[in-house]
Amino acid sequence: MVSADFSVNSGAVFTEAIGNDRLDLLTDYPFTRLANLLAPITPRANVAPILLTVGEPQHTPPAIIEETLRANGAGWNKYPPVGGTPEFRAAAGDWLTRRYDLPAGLLHADSSILPLSGTREALFMLALLAVPTRKAGRQPAVLMPNPFYAPYEGAAVMAGAEPVFLSATRETGFLPDLDALTPELLERTALFYLCTPANPQGAAASPAYLAKAIGLARQYGFVLAVDECYAEIWLDAPPVGALQVATALPHEDGKPWANLLVFHSLSKRSSAAGLRSGFVAGDPALIGRFSRLRSYGCAGMPLPILAASTALWRDEAHVEENRAAYRAKFAAAEAELGGRYGYQRPAGGFFLWLEVGNGEEVAKRLWAEGAVRVLPGAYLSRSNPGEPNPGEAFIRVALVQDTDTVAQACASIVRILG
Ligand SMILES: Cc1ncc(COP(=O)(O)O)c(C=O)c1O
Repeated sequence: MVSADFSVNSGAVFTEAIGNDRLDLLTDYPFTRLANLLAPITPRANVAPILLTVGEPQHTPPAIIEETLRANGAGWNKYPPVGGTPEFRAAAGDWLTRRYDLPAGLLHADSSILPLSGTREALFMLALLAVPTRKAGRQPAVLMPNPFYAPYEGAAVMAGAEPVFLSATRETGFLPDLDALTPELLERTALFYLCTPANPQGAAASPAYLAKAIGLARQYGFVLAVDECYAEIWLDAPPVGALQVATALPHEDGKPWANLLVFHSLSKRSSAAGLRSGFVAGDPALIGRFSRLRSYGCAGMPLPILAASTALWRDEAHVEENRAAYRAKFAAAEAELGGRYGYQRPAGGFFLWLEVGNGEEVAKRLWAEGAVRVLPGAYLSRSNPGEPNPGEAFIRVALVQDTDTVAQACASIVRILG
Protein backbone atom coordinates (compact mmCIF):
# COMPACT_ATOMS: atom_id res chain seq x y z
CA MET A 1 0.00 0.00 0.00
CA VAL A 2 1.21 3.48 -0.82
CA SER A 3 0.90 5.95 2.01
CA ALA A 4 1.42 9.68 1.79
CA ASP A 5 3.68 9.57 4.81
CA PHE A 6 6.30 7.56 2.91
CA SER A 7 7.53 10.71 1.28
CA VAL A 8 9.85 10.53 -1.71
CA ASN A 9 11.80 13.59 -0.65
CA SER A 10 12.40 12.11 2.76
CA GLY A 11 15.90 12.80 3.93
CA ALA A 12 16.80 15.18 1.10
CA VAL A 13 19.74 17.34 2.13
CA PHE A 14 20.28 20.79 0.64
CA THR A 15 23.87 21.85 1.12
CA GLU A 16 23.38 25.34 -0.19
CA ALA A 17 20.34 27.57 0.00
CA ILE A 18 19.18 28.31 -3.52
CA GLY A 19 16.56 30.94 -4.05
CA ASN A 20 14.00 31.86 -1.44
CA ASP A 21 15.66 31.64 1.96
CA ARG A 22 12.31 31.85 3.75
CA LEU A 23 11.92 28.16 2.95
CA ASP A 24 14.78 27.44 5.33
CA LEU A 25 12.62 28.75 8.18
CA LEU A 26 10.34 25.73 7.73
CA THR A 27 11.05 22.25 8.99
CA ASP A 28 10.39 19.26 6.78
CA TYR A 29 6.67 18.56 6.40
CA PRO A 30 5.28 16.44 9.28
CA PHE A 31 5.00 13.26 7.22
CA THR A 32 8.53 13.63 5.91
CA ARG A 33 9.74 14.00 9.50
CA LEU A 34 7.77 10.92 10.46
CA ALA A 35 9.17 8.91 7.56
CA ASN A 36 12.69 9.90 8.68
CA LEU A 37 11.93 9.06 12.32
CA LEU A 38 10.61 5.59 11.57
CA ALA A 39 12.83 4.64 8.62
CA PRO A 40 15.50 2.96 10.77
CA ILE A 41 12.91 0.87 12.63
CA THR A 42 11.66 -2.48 11.40
CA PRO A 43 8.48 -3.49 13.19
CA ARG A 44 9.17 -6.52 15.38
CA ALA A 45 5.66 -7.87 15.25
CA ASN A 46 4.88 -10.29 12.47
CA VAL A 47 1.68 -8.44 11.57
CA ALA A 48 0.50 -6.19 8.76
CA PRO A 49 1.30 -2.53 9.43
CA ILE A 50 -1.63 -0.34 10.45
CA LEU A 51 -1.27 3.17 9.07
CA LEU A 52 -3.04 5.80 11.14
CA THR A 53 -0.97 8.84 10.25
CA VAL A 54 -2.36 10.67 7.23
CA GLY A 55 -5.92 12.00 7.43
CA GLU A 56 -6.83 10.07 4.31
CA PRO A 57 -10.07 8.11 4.82
CA GLN A 58 -9.80 4.59 3.43
CA HIS A 59 -13.58 4.23 2.99
CA THR A 60 -14.70 3.33 -0.53
CA PRO A 61 -15.40 6.60 -2.34
CA PRO A 62 -19.02 7.10 -3.45
CA ALA A 63 -19.93 5.61 -6.84
CA ILE A 64 -21.16 9.07 -7.89
CA ILE A 65 -17.57 10.02 -8.61
CA GLU A 66 -16.86 7.42 -11.26
CA GLU A 67 -20.29 7.83 -12.82
CA THR A 68 -20.07 11.60 -13.20
CA LEU A 69 -16.43 11.56 -14.32
CA ARG A 70 -17.33 9.10 -17.06
CA ALA A 71 -20.39 11.07 -18.15
CA ASN A 72 -18.38 14.32 -18.33
CA GLY A 73 -15.23 13.06 -20.04
CA ALA A 74 -15.63 15.59 -22.85
CA GLY A 75 -14.36 18.23 -20.46
CA TRP A 76 -10.83 16.86 -20.10
CA ASN A 77 -9.53 18.81 -23.10
CA LYS A 78 -10.70 22.19 -21.78
CA TYR A 79 -8.96 24.65 -19.50
CA PRO A 80 -11.47 25.14 -16.69
CA PRO A 81 -12.40 28.65 -15.56
CA VAL A 82 -10.97 29.69 -12.17
CA GLY A 83 -14.50 30.31 -10.90
CA GLY A 84 -15.68 26.82 -11.91
CA THR A 85 -19.15 26.31 -13.35
CA PRO A 86 -22.45 27.95 -12.29
CA GLU A 87 -23.68 24.43 -11.45
CA PHE A 88 -20.81 23.82 -9.06
CA ARG A 89 -21.22 27.18 -7.34
CA ALA A 90 -24.96 26.66 -7.01
CA ALA A 91 -24.49 23.17 -5.51
CA ALA A 92 -21.91 24.42 -3.00
CA GLY A 93 -24.07 27.45 -2.18
CA ASP A 94 -27.21 25.33 -1.72
CA TRP A 95 -25.27 22.98 0.51
CA LEU A 96 -24.00 25.87 2.66
CA THR A 97 -27.52 27.28 2.90
CA ARG A 98 -28.96 23.90 3.93
CA ARG A 99 -26.17 22.85 6.25
CA TYR A 100 -25.93 26.17 8.08
CA ASP A 101 -29.55 27.22 7.86
CA LEU A 102 -28.67 30.47 6.12
CA PRO A 103 -31.54 32.79 5.21
CA ALA A 104 -32.87 31.89 1.74
CA GLY A 105 -31.37 34.05 -0.98
CA LEU A 106 -28.63 35.54 1.22
CA LEU A 107 -25.74 33.70 -0.38
CA HIS A 108 -25.00 34.76 -3.95
CA ALA A 109 -23.02 31.79 -5.07
CA ASP A 110 -21.51 33.46 -8.15
CA SER A 111 -19.80 36.17 -6.10
CA SER A 112 -19.22 34.30 -2.84
CA ILE A 113 -17.74 30.91 -3.82
CA LEU A 114 -14.63 29.68 -5.61
CA PRO A 115 -13.79 26.03 -6.32
CA LEU A 116 -10.44 24.77 -5.04
CA SER A 117 -8.37 21.81 -6.16
CA GLY A 118 -8.30 20.68 -2.54
CA THR A 119 -8.29 23.24 0.24
CA ARG A 120 -4.62 22.83 1.10
CA GLU A 121 -3.36 24.81 -1.88
CA ALA A 122 -5.83 27.61 -1.23
CA LEU A 123 -5.16 27.79 2.51
CA PHE A 124 -1.54 28.25 1.49
CA MET A 125 -2.22 30.75 -1.29
CA LEU A 126 -4.49 32.72 1.01
CA ALA A 127 -1.50 34.23 2.79
CA LEU A 128 -0.42 35.79 -0.51
CA LEU A 129 -3.83 37.40 -0.66
CA ALA A 130 -4.09 38.50 2.95
CA VAL A 131 -0.60 39.56 4.02
CA PRO A 132 0.41 43.13 3.13
CA THR A 133 4.00 44.38 3.12
CA ARG A 134 3.53 46.05 6.52
CA LYS A 135 0.63 46.20 8.97
CA ALA A 136 0.45 48.96 11.57
CA GLY A 137 3.99 49.86 10.43
CA ARG A 138 5.40 46.45 11.40
CA GLN A 139 5.92 42.96 10.07
CA PRO A 140 2.44 41.45 9.68
CA ALA A 141 1.46 38.56 11.95
CA VAL A 142 -0.45 35.44 10.91
CA LEU A 143 -2.18 33.79 13.86
CA MET A 144 -2.87 30.07 14.06
CA PRO A 145 -3.75 27.50 16.69
CA ASN A 146 -0.95 25.44 18.14
CA PRO A 147 -1.02 22.54 17.23
CA PHE A 148 -2.06 23.38 13.67
CA TYR A 149 -2.41 22.13 10.10
CA ALA A 150 1.11 22.54 8.71
CA PRO A 151 0.26 24.59 5.58
CA TYR A 152 -0.85 27.52 7.78
CA GLU A 153 2.70 27.96 9.00
CA GLY A 154 4.19 27.42 5.55
CA ALA A 155 1.87 30.03 4.11
CA ALA A 156 2.67 32.62 6.77
CA VAL A 157 6.41 32.17 6.45
CA MET A 158 6.51 32.18 2.67
CA ALA A 159 4.35 35.32 2.56
CA GLY A 160 6.89 37.13 4.75
CA ALA A 161 4.71 37.29 7.87
CA GLU A 162 5.52 36.21 11.40
CA PRO A 163 3.60 33.02 12.26
CA VAL A 164 2.18 33.37 15.77
CA PHE A 165 1.32 30.08 17.46
CA LEU A 166 -1.60 30.29 19.90
CA SER A 167 -1.63 27.40 22.36
CA ALA A 168 -4.76 25.28 22.09
CA THR A 169 -4.53 22.96 25.08
CA ARG A 170 -6.90 21.11 27.36
CA GLU A 171 -6.89 24.22 29.56
CA THR A 172 -8.11 26.44 26.70
CA GLY A 173 -10.71 23.93 25.47
CA PHE A 174 -8.31 22.91 22.66
CA LEU A 175 -8.92 26.22 20.85
CA PRO A 176 -6.79 29.40 21.08
CA ASP A 177 -7.71 31.70 23.96
CA LEU A 178 -9.06 34.77 22.14
CA ASP A 179 -9.07 36.82 25.35
CA ALA A 180 -5.30 36.44 25.60
CA LEU A 181 -4.68 38.30 22.31
CA THR A 182 -3.20 41.74 22.94
CA PRO A 183 -4.15 44.85 20.92
CA GLU A 184 -0.46 45.17 20.00
CA LEU A 185 -0.60 41.75 18.29
CA LEU A 186 -4.07 42.20 16.79
CA GLU A 187 -3.12 45.53 15.20
CA ARG A 188 -0.45 43.86 13.11
CA THR A 189 -2.46 40.70 12.43
CA ALA A 190 -3.16 40.23 8.72
CA LEU A 191 -4.65 36.75 8.82
CA PHE A 192 -5.98 34.38 11.47
CA TYR A 193 -6.41 30.69 10.65
CA LEU A 194 -8.93 28.89 12.83
CA CYS A 195 -9.85 25.24 12.43
CA THR A 196 -13.20 23.90 13.63
CA PRO A 197 -13.64 21.03 14.29
CA ALA A 198 -9.96 21.29 15.07
CA ASN A 199 -7.28 19.08 13.61
CA PRO A 200 -5.96 17.33 15.68
CA GLN A 201 -8.02 17.72 18.87
CA GLY A 202 -11.54 17.66 17.41
CA ALA A 203 -12.80 20.63 19.45
CA ALA A 204 -15.60 22.65 17.82
CA ALA A 205 -15.86 26.41 18.26
CA SER A 206 -19.09 27.65 19.86
CA PRO A 207 -21.19 30.41 18.28
CA ALA A 208 -19.91 32.84 20.94
CA TYR A 209 -16.31 31.91 20.17
CA LEU A 210 -16.77 32.40 16.43
CA ALA A 211 -18.64 35.66 17.01
CA LYS A 212 -15.73 36.96 19.02
CA ALA A 213 -13.20 35.96 16.35
CA ILE A 214 -15.29 37.61 13.61
CA GLY A 215 -15.62 40.75 15.73
CA LEU A 216 -11.85 40.93 16.19
CA ALA A 217 -11.27 40.49 12.44
CA ARG A 218 -13.54 43.44 11.72
CA GLN A 219 -12.22 45.61 14.54
CA TYR A 220 -8.57 45.08 13.61
CA GLY A 221 -8.97 44.70 9.84
CA PHE A 222 -7.66 41.20 9.22
CA VAL A 223 -8.86 38.17 7.29
CA LEU A 224 -10.40 35.40 9.38
CA ALA A 225 -10.00 32.05 7.60
CA VAL A 226 -12.09 29.33 9.17
CA ASP A 227 -11.02 25.88 8.04
CA GLU A 228 -14.17 23.76 8.30
CA CYS A 229 -12.91 20.76 6.40
CA TYR A 230 -14.03 18.37 9.19
CA ALA A 231 -17.47 20.04 9.50
CA GLU A 232 -19.30 16.96 8.25
CA ILE A 233 -17.48 14.41 10.40
CA TRP A 234 -19.20 14.95 13.73
CA LEU A 235 -20.21 12.59 16.49
CA ASP A 236 -23.18 13.92 18.43
CA ALA A 237 -24.29 17.23 16.89
CA PRO A 238 -23.35 19.19 13.75
CA PRO A 239 -20.83 21.91 14.63
CA VAL A 240 -21.89 25.47 13.85
CA GLY A 241 -20.15 27.26 11.00
CA ALA A 242 -18.65 30.71 10.79
CA LEU A 243 -20.94 31.93 7.96
CA GLN A 244 -23.95 30.97 10.04
CA VAL A 245 -22.65 32.83 13.08
CA ALA A 246 -21.69 35.90 11.05
CA THR A 247 -25.17 36.08 9.52
CA ALA A 248 -26.67 36.60 12.94
CA LEU A 249 -24.20 39.34 13.98
CA PRO A 250 -24.77 43.05 13.43
CA HIS A 251 -23.15 43.94 10.12
CA GLU A 252 -23.02 46.59 7.44
CA ASP A 253 -25.93 46.39 5.01
CA GLY A 254 -25.42 43.59 2.50
CA LYS A 255 -22.10 42.53 4.03
CA PRO A 256 -22.80 39.70 6.45
CA TRP A 257 -19.48 38.02 5.74
CA ALA A 258 -17.07 40.95 5.75
CA ASN A 259 -13.49 39.82 6.53
CA LEU A 260 -14.52 36.16 6.62
CA LEU A 261 -13.66 33.16 4.47
CA VAL A 262 -14.58 29.54 5.17
CA PHE A 263 -12.95 26.48 3.58
CA HIS A 264 -14.76 23.22 2.83
CA SER A 265 -13.46 20.02 1.34
CA LEU A 266 -14.74 16.76 -0.12
CA SER A 267 -11.64 14.90 1.05
CA LYS A 268 -13.13 13.98 4.43
CA ARG A 269 -16.86 14.51 3.79
CA SER A 270 -16.87 12.20 0.77
CA SER A 271 -13.73 10.11 1.46
CA ALA A 272 -12.31 11.53 -1.75
CA ALA A 273 -8.88 12.95 -0.92
CA GLY A 274 -7.67 11.99 -4.40
CA LEU A 275 -10.34 14.03 -6.15
CA ARG A 276 -8.71 17.25 -4.89
CA SER A 277 -11.92 19.14 -4.46
CA GLY A 278 -13.07 21.85 -2.10
CA PHE A 279 -14.25 25.42 -2.10
CA VAL A 280 -13.81 28.73 -0.33
CA ALA A 281 -16.82 30.91 0.47
CA GLY A 282 -17.50 34.19 2.18
CA ASP A 283 -16.79 37.89 1.77
CA PRO A 284 -17.41 38.72 -1.94
CA ALA A 285 -14.72 41.43 -1.86
CA LEU A 286 -12.13 38.88 -0.74
CA ILE A 287 -13.47 36.23 -3.12
CA GLY A 288 -13.11 38.69 -6.00
CA ARG A 289 -9.50 39.46 -5.11
CA PHE A 290 -8.77 35.77 -4.51
CA SER A 291 -10.16 35.01 -7.96
CA ARG A 292 -7.77 37.54 -9.52
CA LEU A 293 -4.81 36.07 -7.63
CA ARG A 294 -5.83 32.53 -8.48
CA SER A 295 -6.06 33.39 -12.19
CA TYR A 296 -2.32 33.90 -12.04
CA GLY A 297 -1.31 31.05 -9.78
CA CYS A 298 -3.74 28.18 -9.50
CA ALA A 299 -4.79 25.18 -11.54
CA GLY A 300 -8.52 25.49 -12.09
CA MET A 301 -10.58 22.46 -11.14
CA PRO A 302 -11.02 20.27 -14.25
CA LEU A 303 -14.57 20.27 -15.67
CA PRO A 304 -15.22 16.53 -15.05
CA ILE A 305 -14.13 17.00 -11.43
CA LEU A 306 -16.38 20.04 -11.12
CA ALA A 307 -19.25 17.85 -12.33
CA ALA A 308 -18.44 15.07 -9.85
CA SER A 309 -18.08 17.60 -7.05
CA THR A 310 -21.40 19.20 -7.95
CA ALA A 311 -23.10 15.81 -7.61
CA LEU A 312 -21.34 15.10 -4.30
CA TRP A 313 -22.37 18.40 -2.69
CA ARG A 314 -25.95 17.59 -3.69
CA ASP A 315 -25.89 14.14 -2.07
CA GLU A 316 -26.19 13.54 1.67
CA ALA A 317 -26.75 9.77 1.75
CA HIS A 318 -23.06 8.92 1.38
CA VAL A 319 -22.15 11.49 4.03
CA GLU A 320 -24.55 9.98 6.54
CA GLU A 321 -23.04 6.56 5.85
CA ASN A 322 -19.62 8.03 6.42
CA ARG A 323 -20.60 9.56 9.74
CA ALA A 324 -22.08 6.27 10.89
CA ALA A 325 -18.78 4.56 10.04
CA TYR A 326 -16.81 7.07 12.13
CA ARG A 327 -19.23 6.73 15.05
CA ALA A 328 -18.64 2.97 15.01
CA LYS A 329 -14.88 3.53 14.93
CA PHE A 330 -14.93 5.95 17.83
CA ALA A 331 -17.08 3.48 19.79
CA ALA A 332 -14.55 0.72 19.07
CA ALA A 333 -11.62 2.97 20.03
CA GLU A 334 -13.33 4.11 23.21
CA ALA A 335 -14.07 0.51 24.22
CA GLU A 336 -10.37 -0.38 23.88
CA LEU A 337 -8.91 2.80 25.38
CA GLY A 338 -11.29 3.01 28.33
CA GLY A 339 -10.47 6.66 29.03
CA ARG A 340 -6.69 6.17 29.12
CA TYR A 341 -4.23 8.84 27.90
CA GLY A 342 -6.57 11.74 28.72
CA TYR A 343 -8.86 10.75 25.86
CA GLN A 344 -11.78 13.10 25.42
CA ARG A 345 -14.53 12.33 22.92
CA PRO A 346 -14.14 15.02 20.26
CA ALA A 347 -16.98 17.06 18.80
CA GLY A 348 -15.80 16.25 15.30
CA GLY A 349 -13.01 15.11 13.01
CA PHE A 350 -11.60 11.62 13.03
CA PHE A 351 -8.54 11.83 15.25
CA LEU A 352 -7.65 10.49 18.66
CA TRP A 353 -5.42 13.02 20.43
CA LEU A 354 -3.75 10.98 23.13
CA GLU A 355 -1.48 12.22 25.89
CA VAL A 356 1.17 9.56 26.17
CA GLY A 357 4.29 11.17 27.67
CA ASN A 358 6.80 11.67 24.86
CA GLY A 359 4.91 11.51 21.55
CA GLU A 360 7.99 10.89 19.42
CA GLU A 361 9.27 8.05 21.60
CA VAL A 362 5.81 6.51 21.73
CA ALA A 363 5.43 6.71 17.93
CA LYS A 364 8.70 4.80 17.61
CA ARG A 365 7.64 2.18 20.17
CA LEU A 366 4.23 1.64 18.60
CA TRP A 367 5.85 1.13 15.21
CA ALA A 368 8.59 -1.13 16.54
CA GLU A 369 6.47 -3.26 18.87
CA GLY A 370 3.05 -3.20 17.20
CA ALA A 371 3.51 -2.09 13.56
CA VAL A 372 1.07 0.71 14.37
CA ARG A 373 2.02 3.96 12.70
CA VAL A 374 0.88 7.21 14.37
CA LEU A 375 2.03 10.82 14.24
CA PRO A 376 3.92 12.50 17.12
CA GLY A 377 1.93 15.54 18.24
CA ALA A 378 5.06 17.70 18.24
CA TYR A 379 5.18 17.43 14.44
CA LEU A 380 1.98 19.49 14.37
CA SER A 381 3.06 22.13 16.88
CA ARG A 382 5.81 24.59 17.78
CA SER A 383 7.42 25.74 20.99
CA ASN A 384 6.91 29.31 22.06
CA PRO A 385 9.73 30.73 24.18
CA GLY A 386 9.23 29.83 27.83
CA GLU A 387 6.25 27.55 27.19
CA PRO A 388 6.06 23.78 26.76
CA ASN A 389 5.34 22.59 23.23
CA PRO A 390 1.61 21.84 23.40
CA GLY A 391 1.90 18.79 21.14
CA GLU A 392 5.00 17.19 22.60
CA ALA A 393 3.23 14.82 24.99
CA PHE A 394 0.67 13.65 22.42
CA ILE A 395 0.22 11.33 19.50
CA ARG A 396 -2.37 11.80 16.76
CA VAL A 397 -4.17 8.66 15.67
CA ALA A 398 -6.22 9.04 12.48
CA LEU A 399 -9.22 6.68 12.43
CA VAL A 400 -9.03 6.24 8.69
CA GLN A 401 -9.02 2.43 8.54
CA ASP A 402 -12.07 0.20 9.10
CA THR A 403 -13.59 -0.44 12.54
CA ASP A 404 -11.88 -3.79 13.16
CA THR A 405 -8.51 -2.38 12.23
CA VAL A 406 -9.05 0.64 14.48
CA ALA A 407 -10.02 -1.68 17.36
CA GLN A 408 -6.95 -3.83 16.72
CA ALA A 409 -4.68 -0.76 16.67
CA CYS A 410 -6.14 0.64 19.89
CA ALA A 411 -5.75 -2.75 21.57
CA SER A 412 -2.09 -2.75 20.51
CA ILE A 413 -1.62 0.77 21.87
CA VAL A 414 -3.01 -0.28 25.26
CA ARG A 415 -0.96 -3.48 25.29
CA ILE A 416 2.27 -1.66 24.47
CA LEU A 417 1.81 1.50 26.57
CA GLY A 418 -0.17 -0.03 29.41
C1 LIG B 1 -7.27 20.92 8.97
C2 LIG B 1 -7.16 20.58 7.54
N1 LIG B 1 -7.43 21.51 6.64
C3 LIG B 1 -7.34 21.27 5.32
C4 LIG B 1 -6.95 20.05 4.87
C5 LIG B 1 -6.76 19.86 3.38
O1 LIG B 1 -7.67 19.08 2.80
P1 LIG B 1 -7.79 18.99 1.21
O2 LIG B 1 -6.63 19.73 0.60
O3 LIG B 1 -7.75 17.56 0.91
O4 LIG B 1 -9.09 19.68 0.89
C6 LIG B 1 -6.65 19.02 5.76
C7 LIG B 1 -6.21 17.71 5.27
O5 LIG B 1 -5.77 16.86 5.95
C8 LIG B 1 -6.77 19.30 7.14
O6 LIG B 1 -6.50 18.36 8.06
